[in-house]
Amino acid sequence: MTQKPNYGIDAPAIIKKYTIFGLMNILAGILISIYTPQHWWWIVLTIGFYISSLFCFFPVLTILWGSLFFKFRERDWLFQNLPLSGDEKVLDLGCGHGLLSIAAAKKLTTGKVYSLDLWIQADQAFNSSEATQKNIDLENVSHKIEIHNGDMRQIPFANESFDVIVSSWAIHNLRKKEDRDSVLMEIKRVLKPGGRVAILDIEFAPTYANFFFTHGFSEVQRLGPRRTFGNKTYLVISTK
Ligand SMILES: C[S@@+](CC[C@H](N)C(=O)[O-])C[C@H]1O[C@@H](n2cnc3c(N)ncnc32)[C@H](O)[C@@H]1O
Repeated sequence: MTQKPNYGIDAPAIIKKYTIFGLMNILAGILISIYTPQHWWWIVLTIGFYISSLFCFFPVLTILWGSLFFKFRERDWLFQNLPLSGDEKVLDLGCGHGLLSIAAAKKLTTGKVYSLDLWIQADQAFNSSEATQKNIDLENVSHKIEIHNGDMRQIPFANESFDVIVSSWAIHNLRKKEDRDSVLMEIKRVLKPGGRVAILDIEFAPTYANFFFTHGFSEVQRLGPRRTFGNKTYLVISTK
């Protein structure tokens, strides 16, 4: 049987937390309906627990749905808006299992993709450079991708070394504004003049567009939102 690449399940820590809360609500509903007298308020309480379990399972389903299906649609959306000519040097920040890196590599001829990550387990399930390399091998693009262990707040590459920088659902994981600003400053530093950046992300994405606008980038676009994981995903594109 041929093996298929596995692009990972996002936010496993959130999935685990909401699944446990949902199951606890169901259990509370079952215990109340078994062990309490059948007064009307106990029926209301039981229904309340069941309804609140639905609120817990909804984000679990949307994250799974996004990870297994909608991410691929948004990946294609990014490259439709960021056409590559084939000879670019591309950097993927927070590459995870290689969703954008591999798609970019498939569009390159003489160019090369550099995939950077710290492989944080809470951000993507079974996250590791080995898992990413396995996907790269399965997709037959190993000659066009280099994996690097590193922090996107201190990108381990020289000034003005990339034609294109991409990133998907990675920067929002940095919860402090100064950390996200460090990433954006690093993008500005390592991007060549005239280089392009495209970022898919949730909640803080509109602030990335503001950053590029106020730091002299041109053609700043904020596209979307799209409901990839239930919440709003934007695509921010700009040119240095
Ligand atoms: C939700 S995953 C998304 C992975 C991939 N871009 C995708 O769309 O499937 C976020 C990724 O960002 C990485 N990450 C988080 N903080 C990072 C940092 N400071 N430097 C590099 N990578 C980081 C995590 O390890 C994880 O692989």
